[in-house]
Amino acid sequence: MEATINGTDAAPTGTDTAPPRNEFEREYARALGNYLLNGGEAPLEEAYELGRQALTAGEGVLAMAHFYHDALAAALHQAPARDDPSATVSKAAQFFTESMSPFEMTHRAIGDANTALRKLNETLEEEVQRIALALHDDAGQLMVAVHLSLDEAIRDMPPNVQARMSGVKALLGLVEERIRDLSHELRPAMLDHLGLVPAVEFLAANFGQRTGLHITVDSSLKGSLSPRLAISFYRIVQEALTNVRRHAHATRVRIQIGKRGPWLRCQVADNGVGFDPAGTISSGHPGLGLVGIRERLNALGGKLRIQSAQGRGTKVEITAPLHQREHADSDTPRRRPSRSA
Ligand SMILES: Nc1ncnc2c1ncn2[C@@H]1O[C@H](COP(=O)(O)OP(=O)(O)OP(=O)(O)O)[C@@H](O)[C@H]1O
Ligand SMILES: [Mg+2]
Repeated sequence: MEATINGTDAAPTGTDTAPPRNEFEREYARALGNYLLNGGEAPLEEAYELGRQALTAGEGVLAMAHFYHDALAAALHQAPARDDPSATVSKAAQFFTESMSPFEMTHRAIGDANTALRKLNETLEEEVQRIALALHDDAGQLMVAVHLSLDEAIRDMPPNVQARMSGVKALLGLVEERIRDLSHELRPAMLDHLGLVPAVEFLAANFGQRTGLHITVDSSLKGSLSPRLAISFYRIVQEALTNVRRHAHATRVRIQIGKRGPWLRCQVADNGVGFDPAGTISSGHPGLGLVGIRERLNALGGKLRIQSAQGRGTKVEITAPLHQREHADSDTPRRRPSRSA
């Protein structure tokens, strides 16, 4: 089973019931004919309403172009010979533009939502960085203080107790190491300094050590990535590995990172129990991990593809355009839609 989640997918949210497709095509042709014959505002409002219904029914822009083409061809065919075809075509274009307005508005709304998602991710990143620093500095300093106090206390202890306390000190040393590794995993400095691949290798090594999973990282990636792309891919690999540990009952994981044309691609493949991705997504309760991955990719204009089947392992593949605008806020002037939704 396979599921592809396109970063630009927009599920229609309206609840109104739209007419069946051929009925819709007839309505569209009739309304266009009416506009060409009589002109005026009312048919244009109808064009907008028809566009809204089409959007609600899940039709795409290509289907709309098709409806329009057929309706215009019929109108030209029926037009009296004395009519100027080029005037008819430009008048029909106004009708078409109105019927496409809901699509344009939705497209803009998706752009706004992506901008909001990007900002949310940036805020989350800042928060994670704060926690990582607090773990590294505050908890790290406290551990040093605990070591010093313990050393002092041990000096006054009888020799047999001192020997037992050295075991406690060794355990404290391990806790200290874990805290340091966790803080590096949360916000690896090497992501900023060395890039995505070394950071993922560090993550894989630590994760493998903690969980007993055999994790390999293969990469043909050269050159630097935009910071947003690097941190997003790092977080997605982190979640994919967490999912392997929690759900897959796997023994091996292979991570591949590379370029494919103008795309950055990363695949996390495990040899675990597998699952039904389409069923999980459509169940409406897929957990936060896959939703988070999808949202991160939406903000990058990327795609998530999951190939999995019961007993056949899971491949999580993510792709996103290599060239990201670092400040892609929606600051371009917008055409105000002529009709409200
Ligand atoms: N590698 C995998 N192997 C097997 N099942 C998986 C794997 N990855 C995801 N799943 C299945 O997909 C479901 C959804 O994953 P998702 O990451 O969205 O949620 P979660 O891990 O259950 O919870 P959360 O990530 O919110 O803590 C999981 O509950 C699990 O059933
Ligand atoms: Mg998860």
